[in-house]
Amino acid sequence: MGDNPCMKISGIKQKYDRLAKSYDLLFSHIFEPGRAQVVDTINARFGNKGDVRVLEVGVGTGLSLAHYNRNLQVTAIDISPKMLEFALDRKAKLALEHIIIKEMNAEHLAFPDHHFDVITALYVISVAENPVKMMQELARTVKPGGSVFIASHFSDGKGIVSFFERLLAPLTHYVGWKSYFKTAEIMIPELKLVSTHKTNIFGYWTILEFQK
Ligand SMILES: C[S@@+](CC[C@H](N)C(=O)[O-])C[C@H]1O[C@@H](n2cnc3c(N)ncnc32)[C@H](O)[C@@H]1O
Repeated sequence: MGDNPCMKISGIKQKYDRLAKSYDLLFSHIFEPGRAQVVDTINARFGNKGDVRVLEVGVGTGLSLAHYNRNLQVTAIDISPKMLEFALDRKAKLALEHIIIKEMNAEHLAFPDHHFDVITALYVISVAENPVKMMQELARTVKPGGSVFIASHFSDGKGIVSFFERLLAPLTHYVGWKSYFKTAEIMIPELKLVSTHKTNIFGYWTILEFQK
C-alpha cells in the first residue's frame, strides 16, 4: 500500500480533484442504497433528539447530505477541494443550513476527543492512505457509546464475490480503492463491531456498524 504513490494522501487528493466533475455521473446511483441505508438508520435513531452531532468523513460531492434530518448538526469533511466545491454547491442549492463543510484529513481530525454522537465513512476507508489511522481518529472523536458506520467493499467473500472483484478491477483502480481489502484490516480494540449488512447491487458492498 505504502509503495503506491497514488495511495499517498497527495495522490488521493489529486485523484479525486480530477474525478470531481464526473463523480456524480459515475457513482451517484450505484452507491445510493448504502448511503440512504446508513443515513436513514441515523435519522431513525437520532432525528427527533436535540443536540446530536454527526460527522461524515470523505463526503466527496455531498451525495448523502440531503438525506440527513434537519434536527441533526452535521459536519462533513473531505481532503479534495474540488469534490468539496460540488458539496458546497449542493448545500447552497438545497439550503442545508444544518450542515457544515470543511476541508480536512480524516486521518488527522481537528476535533476534540469524544465530540460526535455518530460518525460515517461512506466508501472511503478502502481509499485511505492509512485505514487503521483513520479508524483510530474516528474512535478518538466519537463519544463513548457512540456509533461509527463504515460502508465499503471488503474482499472477505469467495466465488461470486471474487468473480465481481475481477470484473470491477478497472473501476477499482480508477477510483483508487484497494482491490483486496479485508474487514480484519480495520478492526481496532477501541471499536466493537455490532452489525454487518450487505448493500448495493448484488450485496457487493457492506455496511459495518461499530460502537465505542
Ligand atoms: C469514493 S469517494 C466517496 C464519496 C462519498 N462518500 C460517496 O458516498 O460517494 C471517496 C472520498 O474520500 C475522500 N478521502 C479519501 N481519503 C480521505 C481522507 N484521509 N480524509 C478525508 N477524505 C478522504 C476522497 O477525497 C473522496 O472524496
